[in-house]
Amino acid sequence: KKVVLGIDIGGTYTKIGLVTKKGGILDKVVFKTEAQKPFSNFMGKLKVEVETLVLRSASDIQILHIGVGAPNANPNTGNIENPPNLKWGLATPIKKIMEQVFELPVVLANDANAAALGEMLYGAAQGMKNFVALTLGTGLGSGIIVNGQLLIGEHGAAGELGHVNVDRQGRNCNCGLQGCLETYASVTGIKRTVFELMATMREASPLRSLSFDEMTGTAISNAAINGDAIALKAFEMTGEILGSKMADTVAHLDPEAFILSGGLSKAGKILLNPIKNGMEHHLFNVYKDKVKVLLSTATSSDAVLGPAALAWLEFKNTKTA
Ligand code: BGC
Ligand code: NA
Ligand code: ZN
Repeated sequence: KKVVLGIDIGGTYTKIGLVTKKGGILDKVVFKTEAQKPFSNFMGKLKVEVETLVLRSASDIQILHIGVGAPNANPNTGNIENPPNLKWGLATPIKKIMEQVFELPVVLANDANAAALGEMLYGAAQGMKNFVALTLGTGLGSGIIVNGQLLIGEHGAAGELGHVNVDRQGRNCNCGLQGCLETYASVTGIKRTVFELMATMREASPLRSLSFDEMTGTAISNAAINGDAIALKAFEMTGEILGSKMADTVAHLDPEAFILSGGLSKAGKILLNPIKNGMEHHLFNVYKDKVKVLLSTATSSDAVLGPAALAWLEFKNTKTA
């Protein structure tokens, strides 16, 4: 059976999976990225996890290609370049290293760009020609599809919505800038909002018993679902800020839809409603009530579908070249 190996490297978790051409995930593994440790540590872990995955898969499996989605990935150089939420340094030649370690061809893309390809081939954006995929995890990533094509950009880095400015005096971002969107609209961002709100609001909340590291997107979502005032307020503020920046994006691209995935998107309507309000409030009249905001149908461990889609597209290209 022919498959590709999809690898999605996140700020907190890495997901790997064997994926068929039709987007069937035969098997997958999720492990901690350990963002503060060096890249060599990550590669050691990855090698073990891939071997485990391959060993327990059916013997007739043939891996054709590896697709990797990672923050600050440059498809032109094959390097990961100083991602804000991974302490791996200025340039990690990940494509070259993985090709040596696994002895297979590797294609590299920005994680959210790969996610956009996954949504187009296998997910909520099937049949769409113009849309933006947003990944709301440790950071905020975006992948832009225009006229049915992934927007790559001059430096291989089109679609970095996480680092547009929402407040010049705003929060410090791990990228070194101040007031970046991802410092508000991401799992890390909403956690920061919850901690600010806990200092100013008086309501009791189960979130108060958690440290910053203990708090997760799921904990905040669950609190909000149970009517927790602090969590609900945090989602409202997050949605408003993200929605206003999505309205800017609409003015640039006029997309049919936004597709949301990642840890924060699990909150469903609790996040969608304030986002839609925030976006519609700031939309120029020609776009009003026209742009869809959808949740990805994939669960977060299905993030391997993005890099898998990337690998299948690349495999097709190398074969016809
Ligand atoms: C990085 C992006 C990435 C996003 C999601 C951001 O901090 O700069 O490249 O797509 O996080 O991982
Ligand atoms: Na991107
Ligand atoms: Zn930033």
